[in-house]
Amino acid sequence: MTVKGYFPFSLLFSLSLLLFFSGATPVNLVYETCKKSSQEDPNVSYSFCVASLLAVPKSKHASLRGLGFISMNLTKSNATNIHLYIKKLLKHKKFDPFEKNCLSDCLDLYSDAIDLMDDAINSFKSKHYFDANIQVSAALDVPSTCEDGFKEKKIRVSPLTKINGNMFQLSALDLSIIEMVRR
Ligand SMILES: *[C@@H]1O[C@H](CO)[C@@H](O)[C@H](O)[C@H]1NC(C)=O
Ligand SMILES: *[C@@H]1O[C@H](CO)[C@@H](O)[C@H](O)[C@H]1NC(C)=O
Ligand SMILES: *[C@@H]1O[C@H](CO)[C@@H](O)[C@H](O)[C@H]1NC(C)=O
Repeated sequence: MTVKGYFPFSLLFSLSLLLFFSGATPVNLVYETCKKSSQEDPNVSYSFCVASLLAVPKSKHASLRGLGFISMNLTKSNATNIHLYIKKLLKHKKFDPFEKNCLSDCLDLYSDAIDLMDDAINSFKSKHYFDANIQVSAALDVPSTCEDGFKEKKIRVSPLTKINGNMFQLSALDLSIIEMVRR
């Protein structure tokens, strides 16, 4: 084969390599961020992180800061959905006074969590990362405070354990990304 024959091939080959890597970079950022996050923070699970972020199509083209917004948006909508869910439970199902009390407390807590996430998103927007950290940390305490209410009487099983776990993981992911952006 002549040099003429080799050249287009190697050019095409390096071009496709280039395209492959540049095209893959943004998605890799999701995996990279989740890897780093789960290694640095025991509260973050790698698979939860990847599944949550990749569920949002925008994540594939987002910067690290963009992923921060996406993650915090997810936490806010989680809190909003959970608030609505508890409200519906209280309205449509029968509970004994103890459970009703716990659920009402959780309703108030999640109302606070929505406000905290609004504040945190604004802080993050204006690059006040310390404030964002404080606000998300307060939101991170909401699911465990809610669960603790039910644990006071050991026989009870919280109807919110699973969704509280989601909310905890999402806010832990927020915190971890805020710290990465802050560095
Ligand atoms: C992990 O979660 C606990 C609450 O369960 C919290 O006290 C702790 O600060 C969190 N760790 C990090 C690194 O955010
Ligand atoms: C976050 O949510 C707000 C309001 O719904 C939206 O305008 C914004 O585009 C979202 N940001 C990202 C990165 O998804
Ligand atoms: C909360 O977020 C998790 C992870 O993104 C999701 O699987 C779950 O369905 C959400 N729950 C609610 C009530 O929005």
